[in-house]
Amino acid sequence: GLGGPPLLLPSMLMFAVIVASSGLLLMIERGILAEMKPLPLHPPGREGTAWRGKAPKPGGLSLRAGDADLQVRQDVRNRTLRAVCGQPGMPRDPWDLPVGQRRTLLRHILVLAGVLDSVDVRLKMDHRSDLVFLADLRPEEIRYRLQHYFKFLFVRDPLERLLSAYRNKFGEIREYQQRYGAEIVRRYRAGAGPSPAGDDVTFPEFLRYLVDEDPERMNEHWMPVYHLCQPCAVHYDFVGSYERLEADANQVLEWVRAPPHVRFPARQAWYRPASPESLHYHLCSAPRALLQDVLPKYILDFSLFAYPLPNVTKEACQQ
Ligand SMILES: *[C@@H]1O[C@H](CO)[C@@H](O)[C@H](O)[C@H]1NC(C)=O
Ligand SMILES: *[C@@H]1O[C@H](CO)[C@@H](O)[C@H](O)[C@H]1NC(C)=O
Repeated sequence: GLGGPPLLLPSMLMFAVIVASSGLLLMIERGILAEMKPLPLHPPGREGTAWRGKAPKPGGLSLRAGDADLQVRQDVRNRTLRAVCGQPGMPRDPWDLPVGQRRTLLRHILVLAGVLDSVDVRLKMDHRSDLVFLADLRPEEIRYRLQHYFKFLFVRDPLERLLSAYRNKFGEIREYQQRYGAEIVRRYRAGAGPSPAGDDVTFPEFLRYLVDEDPERMNEHWMPVYHLCQPCAVHYDFVGSYERLEADANQVLEWVRAPPHVRFPARQAWYRPASPESLHYHLCSAPRALLQDVLPKYILDFSLFAYPLPNVTKEACQQ
């Protein structure tokens, strides 16, 4: 329960892990963090910065210095979301959604209720068993949280996200190779045997698979963020981005008045992000027609979250 002792500490590590792997959404009870005292094991140690005081309102604050382009993009994102979601016929809350979409959404909204003793703990978490999702709660509890909690979502360049999912899931995770990789090879590789290992899926094969899949039933790591997070049905207080992960995460911590010992953690050693060069290489190597078929599936992610479509002209790819 959220009313428990101050042992409850939001797991910012888990936050980072999930940001790294997919679109995500999290909720924090406004103010709950401010009531927590630092744990005895982790004395404040930074009295100078102390408590961050009154939380400024989202939107009305001056963002930290930094990339003006990214700030413009955040503003565009905010306005686009409001314009699109204000159209007639758009869902206004999760109960406007078809039951399958609602189930997907609620299974992915994470309730930050404190899981780790410290943000410095080094471990990989089991998303399923260690964390509380909205779907674990009763309908009235869900409604209460959607209404009163601080809700935020982090987005990432859609293609970078796909490449990252491809590299991580098919390059490193046996379960994904068996569950999805083998199926992809069977379907799209001429001359594949009846039981391929699925550990050598190519990026174009992965793209072909995405073209044929129903976006609403995809695995969460490549399901369009629009379907995963339903930004019209849930009124997010803040949409952060992977491109300014640290600054945006700190912003969230400020808004929820996190005490100083709750920090956004350093990147874990095992995490190797997909570089822009690697994305450029993969996109330019993929058949153009394939990209043209894949992009429409993610068009809402590009447009709502203000990401440009990739430039895969001959000139751009020769560079
Ligand atoms: C968008 O801006 C409005 C007004 O400044 C603010 O209330 C709202 O929380 C913002 N929404 C997002 C998702 O950033
Ligand atoms: C794509 O990149 C090339 C080479 O950098 C550039 O000349 C062209 O204007 C770009 N196209 C678009 C639509 O951005």
